[in-house]
Amino acid sequence: MITLDAIRQPVTKELDAYEAFLERQFTAEGDLLNNMLRHALSSRGKGVRPMLVALSAAMNARTSGATGSPRVSLAAMLVEMIHTASLIHDDVIDESDERRGRPSANAIWQSHKAVLLGDYILARNMSIGFESGQFDLVAHICGRMATLCEGELLQADCASKQNMTRNTYLDIIYKKTATLLGVSASAGALAVGATRDKVTTMRRFGEALGMAFQIQDDILDYTPNAETGKPRGNDLREGKITLPLLILLDRADDACRNALLDQLRRCHEDESQVEEIQRIVLDEGALQEAQLVMQGYIERAVRMLSEYPDTPYRTSLIHLCSFVAERNK
Ligand code: IPE
Ligand code: IPE
Ligand code: MG
Ligand code: MG
Repeated sequence: MITLDAIRQPVTKELDAYEAFLERQFTAEGDLLNNMLRHALSSRGKGVRPMLVALSAAMNARTSGATGSPRVSLAAMLVEMIHTASLIHDDVIDESDERRGRPSANAIWQSHKAVLLGDYILARNMSIGFESGQFDLVAHICGRMATLCEGELLQADCASKQNMTRNTYLDIIYKKTATLLGVSASAGALAVGATRDKVTTMRRFGEALGMAFQIQDDILDYTPNAETGKPRGNDLREGKITLPLLILLDRADDACRNALLDQLRRCHEDESQVEEIQRIVLDEGALQEAQLVMQGYIERAVRMLSEYPDTPYRTSLIHLCSFVAERNK
């Protein structure tokens, strides 16, 4: 399988510059906040969004010097810190006690403090953005934050009402995940002064990749031996109907459907129900069917890159598409 190190190779200089920029900018006063911030920043995750920014910037730059501009570091920081804060809040919402292989912020400091940590990161992100004076990038990136919240809220509402449809599922994952990957890829192009058409192409590319990314995340929640560093089966415990289960529900007759929904309602309290639904999903081949849907988005993403010349940057973005489709972490 293609590794993330191989994908980031053509832009390691740019990503190192972004890491250094982030370390310089994100500091906090006071022991508690400092400890919390260190916890949030010391395990950085896969870094897919900064990678998208840097590779898109390099692929769209008209001169090679523009690829390492401070605007690229700023854009990478803005998207990754929105992502980091959204995961801290998401773990509170999902009552999840593990993230990136370590206890989540809410598990260590309880939910109320974790909410404030997420807020702090978002607020600092905004002020660093404004202080930079790069208002086009700040507006482009931070202007879509509301969409993420809409997606999470819609998902919570559907979980309590159990009224998920294929269209609503796609709408949720577009809003909560694909938007930010679209913003990341397009921000890279914007950072180096690409044309409006190119910025739009990169947004579409990132959004298609983002749809696939979330479908794979939802598949991994059912996959034994996945190495996500977060608890498997949590979507069921939280009553979430994601694509694998949705495929089963769509196939089932009314009686089976009602039985499955009844089991789902009991998952929060009863671990045996979680295992039972996981077993049915695996036995019925729903993960393979979900993979086909994901593959459609991967193909769409790769097609968006066909208007670019063959460069190491484009190759890396194509490899990133394969990574997303094959990843188990
Ligand atoms: C997790 O995102 C949340 C989703 C959008 C599925 P990532 O899988 O990118 O998380 P990290 O940053 O690598 O931990
Ligand atoms: C993605 O949803 C979270 C955000 C976009 C904030 P999930 O709830 O599936 O993410 P994980 O699985 O906890 O990382
Ligand atoms: Mg979650
Ligand atoms: Mg998930």
